[in-house]
Amino acid sequence: MSFKIKENVSWVGKIDWELRKFHGEEYSTHRGSSYNSYLIKEGKTALIDTVWGKFSGEFVENLKKEIPLEKIDFVIANHAESDHSGALPELMRHIPDTPIYCTSNGVKSLTGHYHQDWNFHIVKTGDKLSLGSKELIFIEAQMLHWPDSMMSYLTHDSILFSNDAFGQHIASERMYNDLVDQAELFQEAIKYYANILTPFSALVDKKIKEVLALNVPVDMICPSHGVIWRKDPLQIANQYLEWANAYAENQITIAYDSMWDGTRRMAEAIAKGIVEADPTVAVKLFNIARSDKNDLITEIFKSKAVLVGSPTINKGILSAVAAILEEMKGLKFMNKKAAAFGCYGWSGEAVKIMTQHLSSAGFTVVDEGLRAMWNPDTKAIEICIEYGKRVAGLFK
Ligand code: FEO
Repeated sequence: MSFKIKENVSWVGKIDWELRKFHGEEYSTHRGSSYNSYLIKEGKTALIDTVWGKFSGEFVENLKKEIPLEKIDFVIANHAESDHSGALPELMRHIPDTPIYCTSNGVKSLTGHYHQDWNFHIVKTGDKLSLGSKELIFIEAQMLHWPDSMMSYLTHDSILFSNDAFGQHIASERMYNDLVDQAELFQEAIKYYANILTPFSALVDKKIKEVLALNVPVDMICPSHGVIWRKDPLQIANQYLEWANAYAENQITIAYDSMWDGTRRMAEAIAKGIVEADPTVAVKLFNIARSDKNDLITEIFKSKAVLVGSPTINKGILSAVAAILEEMKGLKFMNKKAAAFGCYGWSGEAVKIMTQHLSSAGFTVVDEGLRAMWNPDTKAIEICIEYGKRVAGLFK
């Protein structure tokens, strides 16, 4: 499959309808994904990125239908991660001398992955590559989201090939933003940002402002996953600016795990108190062990505050709670408040442990948390409701 996105520019990637987990088992992809590769046929021909290695044979065979491989003058590797570079070994077997344009970190990453002595050409921000009457201009995008990442801009057609930035894990035969369900598109875009780009928000903000300051026309943004932004393409850049700056909606997420429902009942009572105190706030409850990790991270990203709950077990916390706290630490959320709660039978360390985790993850912990001994009785549930009312105020 291929399709033209401009007179001389074609999408030659792979739509992966089956994908349900990405980055090993780390990232859920309920709607599949695509690995977008683009072929530009001007006076000179350039191929931008490839696809995941498992599809390399199919990719190269399809590419041959578009162009004799030896007629490809330049390969542009915007990013070395395997989902975009994986077909390079198969492709380069046919055209071993064709130059590969990438950043200096790209050479390190590609060599580290494939251990091949390819004909690398290192580019920096502002470097241009003539394709005849049009040019590709390169923009380094270090740590968005790897050290090697870069974007490429095609003059005249005004296309920004942004690689992972602005991507979404969506498989669709309707590969443009104006043709897909907008709620699904927004959900996958924010999930992508929350789970992958959050730690780099300061760099996202800086880079997008740098690109916008170039004041060049942008007719399309072509990311390396999901649909192409052709209708109001800069909407996603402006949306990223919002997400990159301590994004929070009027939402409180209560994430917990429970052994015998005591901590769950606490969670529900706290939620009741919050809603009674502040009916405007959206309160969402998730049993961590039964929820999709990446969807939960997306909800935390959207929240102004999070309450984390676990009973005490073996003087510690339940493993699903420990896992999400570790994830939250790595993502470096900004400007979010938090507190912990949980029931216990005898030693009762869990709340203190979660409080410490939340604090070291960069959350502003508003108090020492709430514990309930044994199975919460009517009085303990009343205390939870009152606690919910109190944190509703502290989370404002
Ligand atoms: Fe960073 Fe889509 O790979």
